[in-house]
Amino acid sequence: MSTQLQDEVRRRRTFAIISHPDAGKTTLTEKLLLYGGAIQLAGTVKGRKAARHATSDWMELEKQRGISVTSSVMQFPYKDRIVNLLDTPGHQDFSEDTYRTLVAADSAVMLLDNRKGVEEQTRKLFNVCKLRRTPVFTVVNKCDRPGEDPFQLLDDVEADLGVECYPVTWPVVADHKFVGVYDRLEGVVLHFHRAKDHGQTRVETDARSLDDPTLDAELGVGTMERLREEIELLDAAGAQFDEDAVRAGTLSPTFFASALTNFGVEPFFRRFLDLAPSPVPRESSDGPVAPDSEDFSGFVFKIQANLDPKHRDRIAFLRVCSGRFEAGAEVQNLRSGKSVRLAQPQTFMARDRQAVEEAWPGDVVGIHDRGSLRIGDTLADGRRGEFKDIPRFSPEHFARVQIGDPLRRKHLDTGLRQLSEEGAAQVFYAESIAGPAPIVGAVGPLQFDVLLHRLEHEYGVTARLERLPFVAARWVTGAEDDIDRVAAGYDRTRVTDSRDRPLILFKSEWSLQKTAENEKGKLEFHAVAP
Ligand code: G4P
Repeated sequence: MSTQLQDEVRRRRTFAIISHPDAGKTTLTEKLLLYGGAIQLAGTVKGRKAARHATSDWMELEKQRGISVTSSVMQFPYKDRIVNLLDTPGHQDFSEDTYRTLVAADSAVMLLDNRKGVEEQTRKLFNVCKLRRTPVFTVVNKCDRPGEDPFQLLDDVEADLGVECYPVTWPVVADHKFVGVYDRLEGVVLHFHRAKDHGQTRVETDARSLDDPTLDAELGVGTMERLREEIELLDAAGAQFDEDAVRAGTLSPTFFASALTNFGVEPFFRRFLDLAPSPVPRESSDGPVAPDSEDFSGFVFKIQANLDPKHRDRIAFLRVCSGRFEAGAEVQNLRSGKSVRLAQPQTFMARDRQAVEEAWPGDVVGIHDRGSLRIGDTLADGRRGEFKDIPRFSPEHFARVQIGDPLRRKHLDTGLRQLSEEGAAQVFYAESIAGPAPIVGAVGPLQFDVLLHRLEHEYGVTARLERLPFVAARWVTGAEDDIDRVAAGYDRTRVTDSRDRPLILFKSEWSLQKTAENEKGKLEFHAVAP
């Protein structure tokens, strides 16, 4: 086994930030790049911010997606580590891609606003991590301004998400100001010194032990007494630190910080890089594939189509899982059995795309594709097991597809099939007098605009969407009679997916919950395709 391969694996940390819009993901990302030395001055990652209020006409869409390609993955060195930060598109860009990106990450950072705690989008993304047992680290952000009491906040997180939090750092507040953190694993108070540049550079910090009397003099006796009491309380009542539980995703190391002022960002990131896993073995149909096995393998987790009809090429995002990736190499697509040349691969360094010669497990590489790759495809040297399918997640928006010209129906069917295979939207079929009628489902409504645009420009089909009032889909397993009986209810309908598996669409979350309760023991409802 080559030691270079093992070293490269050991150095890699591949993660995604999960958060609700406005929690501070853009700001934190920028600060991590700053600390990694990938950018000199903070205040330069503006991409998604500008796109945030974009309307959804396709010109805007294209601009927006242009931005999201370059900021999809950010690779940067931090001390002796190589960090791959995968972007999880939010705002209107929230889509199934956001979920799929988590499948390519080895860990996640859950960023919370200190006034809001867990919000809707955080919860959805956390649940995907939970399902996959991905280790999640929690950062409570915006501590520079008063927020929820930290004990209460963490209680709420634990109750809401069913995970235990272990505060690794704890906020030190003097005169209502966030002045430092206590690092419980090291047993030191980190006192921050405010610079005059509004968080554009790293923050000066000094470290002293909790009982150092100079802290009482500087921060106030009252502040230090309260801090010591809080730490005692945490030690007595809180969870024990357990690295195995962190790796299993059941214990979330928790940090307090302000991405805006940089306070607490470095203590978090340093510790995160120590505790977060390097690439771990991935399940395949032949058993787990170790990242340091010599044969190259990887899987496609996202395909970025070019919306400009003059440039039909697409970029497939490949997560390297084992061996060494080499530009120009011939590898096998295990689904189609065809060979694929890894042509013009790129990596994404901070905000720039760069040609890449080699990459290692944990890295994400963008490869040019002319339509032969699909989401979930395994690319590998020679024959081996395929990686497990990337799951399909329940859409939340639904629409019936209608076309003006019935003669284009064949083209529509082809387009929908291909676009759904590519992961642009999900396609379901409802029974109707005229045969199966296509219904499209999406996690975020922007996916619909992309879909219509691509149907028109790539398949020559002008379609209209009639929005349907459903909000959730569940794959359902059980006796056929029971499925039919339940599907006959007034606020739902039965459809099938492209593999003929039955689903029920519901008009309200409440109705879904109620039905699932009532049918316990008879039917099972799955948010992710079984
Ligand atoms: P997002 O990517 O998660 O959507 O969040 P983003 O970083 O864009 O931050 C959302 C807002 O929260 C921004 O304010 C940002 O400055 C602010 N923010 C981020 N981190 C902190 C923090 O640690 N403390 C405080 N107090 N605020 C923070 P904005 O007014 O929307 O934009 P801007 O005018 O400041 O750019």
